Amino acid sequence: MLFENQAALVTAAGAGIGRAIALRLAAEGASVVVSDVNDEAGAETVALIEAANGRAAYKHANVADADEVNALVPFAIETFGRLDMAVNNAGVGAMPKPVQDITAAEWDRSINVTLRGTFLALQSQMAHFVKQGGGSIVNIASLAGISATPNLTPYGAAKHGVVSLTRSVAKECAEQGIRVNAVAPGAIETAALASLPAEAKAGYAAEIPMKRLGQPEDIANATAFLLSDQASFITGVVLRVDGGTEA
Ligand SMILES: NC(=O)c1ccc[n+]([C@@H]2O[C@H](COP(=O)([O-])OP(=O)(O)OC[C@H]3O[C@@H](n4cnc5c(N)ncnc54)[C@H](O)[C@@H]3O)[C@@H](O)[C@H]2O)c1
Repeated sequence: MLFENQAALVTAAGAGIGRAIALRLAAEGASVVVSDVNDEAGAETVALIEAANGRAAYKHANVADADEVNALVPFAIETFGRLDMAVNNAGVGAMPKPVQDITAAEWDRSINVTLRGTFLALQSQMAHFVKQGGGSIVNIASLAGISATPNLTPYGAAKHGVVSLTRSVAKECAEQGIRVNAVAPGAIETAALASLPAEAKAGYAAEIPMKRLGQPEDIANATAFLLSDQASFITGVVLRVDGGTEA
């Protein structure tokens, strides 16, 4: 197992990609702090981990709220006695709109949750990892953080910010034994995509070179690899997991 006797923290782990990551880390032996804004969904992830004989505990946190985010690392240490790795997964999309129609409130929501939330979470994790002299972080970015995103400008700007944060902090802390990487998912079949009619899903899949939608487990696999010692000489990368979309 990759993470025996280690502890992990995953934000937005109540559903989709975050849940798949939490399940995967637990299956690899990590004790997992499952965090989300949706308490019921978070508790369900914990129950799934426990049903598979893993260890997990739930802590509510809206990543846009600094106090709630800052309580996560102390909770991990109180609960499991340690924190070795973190996955900053929370991020919110929006309805596509031309830039001239986007309200300041819509812009702020995207930036607050997706970029500021990742910053706040990463900042509190870094304070702990610097003190203990090691740690590993994966931020969940997006292809929207690499390429143009017409009609999704706030989301694209926020995810480009997440990529910049990842690369900058990776260099800042490389000498201290802390690695910071990002995973950039392509189209992954979580709630939003899963709820589309089969025809629409097939349309999306047809545009992907591998001719299928990604699954949350595809992102969990890449995240587990980057967090683990198997990636011990890898920091500051943005790993696309997109079936070849941006190749
Ligand atoms: N699904 C995709 O195709 C795709 C593609 C690229 C990037 N991503 C990124 O992956 C991440 C997860 O996406 P997903 O598709 O699994 O989402 P999802 O909608 O399936 O799950 C999102 C989870 O986030 C929680 N959440 C929402 N706002 C939050 C907040 N402010 N604080 C804490 N938790 C919050 C929700 O309660 C839910 O449990 C996001 O950062 C998203 O931008 C997803």
